[in-house]
Amino acid sequence: MLYSALLVGAALASKAAAACTREQLEAATAAYVAAQAAGNPSISSLALAENVTYIENDEPTDIAKGVISTPITVDFNRSLHDTTQCATFTEISAATKEKYVISTRLLFTDDKITTIQSVVANDGDWAFNATGQLYWTKQEKWDPIPEDKQDKREVIQAAGDAYLDSWGDGTVKAPYGTPCARLEGGSYTGSGRPTANTCFMPEFPKPFKVENRRYVIDEVLGGVGIFNDFPFIDAKKPNGTSSTNFIRVEGGQIRYIHEVTVCSTRNCGR
Ligand SMILES: *[C@@H]1O[C@H](CO)[C@@H](O)[C@H](O)[C@H]1NC(C)=O
Ligand SMILES: *[C@@H]1O[C@H](CO)[C@@H](O)[C@H](O)[C@H]1NC(C)=O
Ligand SMILES: *[C@@H]1O[C@H](CO)[C@@H](O)[C@H](O)[C@H]1NC(C)=O
Repeated sequence: MLYSALLVGAALASKAAAACTREQLEAATAAYVAAQAAGNPSISSLALAENVTYIENDEPTDIAKGVISTPITVDFNRSLHDTTQCATFTEISAATKEKYVISTRLLFTDDKITTIQSVVANDGDWAFNATGQLYWTKQEKWDPIPEDKQDKREVIQAAGDAYLDSWGDGTVKAPYGTPCARLEGGSYTGSGRPTANTCFMPEFPKPFKVENRRYVIDEVLGGVGIFNDFPFIDAKKPNGTSSTNFIRVEGGQIRYIHEVTVCSTRNCGR
C-alpha cells in the first residue's frame, strides 16, 4: 500500500517537473517575439528566471548586449512548442527594415525561462538573403496536423536525424517527401517545382559529422528544430559553425527544411 502510494507520488512529481502546457509555451514564444520586436528582454510577459543564460551563436553573451536588446521589425515568425521537454523553437524573419533570420530555443524550469539560445544570421552569413527568406517562408503551409495524422516525436526526430546523417554518409536515405523544398539562407529549391522532391543533398567530403544536436519537437506542427555544429563550410571553424535546421515532417516524410548557418567571414569564405 505504502509502496504503491510512493510510486504514484514519484510519477506525479516527475510529470510535474517535465511537462508544460502548450498554452504556456505559446504565451512564452509570443512574449519572446514581442521582446525581440521591442528590443527589451525585460518586458513583463517574458518570464525569465533570475539566472537566465543568454547564448548567441554558441557564445554566452550579456543579454543587455545581445540582439534581443535591439528593436527589430519582425515581419514573420513561426514557433514549435515541445510540451515533453518544456522547450520552444522560434524562427524570426526580418527583411523590410533590419535584416535578420533568428532561430531561438527557449528552455524552462518551473515555468521560468532558464536559457535563451539564438543563432543569429544576417548579411554575410551562409546564402543569406532576408528578402528571399521572408518571401519563401510566408508561402509555406505549416498548419496544425489533425491528431489522427500526427507522427510520434521519435518519427519526427528520426526524419531530421536521417537528413543530417545523410550529409556525411550517402547510404543513409533521408525520408524526403514529394514535394519537398529547402530554404537555405534565402535561396529556395522549391520555386517553380512545387510537385518534386528538391531537398536531396549529396554527400559532403568525409569525414563529416554533425554534432552537438539539440532538438525541439512539436507533434502538432510535425516540426523539429535542430541546433547543431555544421562542419566543413566555415574554413575558420572546421569542426562546426552555429547552424539550425528547422524541418516540417508530414506522415513521416520531410516537407520543408530551413537552414540557417552563421559564417565567421563573408559567406564562410566561399
Ligand atoms: C537557475 O534557477 C533554477 C530555478 O529557477 C534552478 O533550477 C537552476 O538550477 C538554476 N541554474 C543555475 C545555473 O544556477
Ligand atoms: C508572430 O506570429 C504570430 C502567429 O502567426 C502572429 O500572430 C504575430 O502577430 C507575430 N508577431 C509579430 C511581432 O510579427
Ligand atoms: C534576394 O532574394 C530576392 C527575392 O527572391 C531577389 O529578388 C534578390 O535578387 C536576392 N538578392 C540577392 C543579392 O541575391
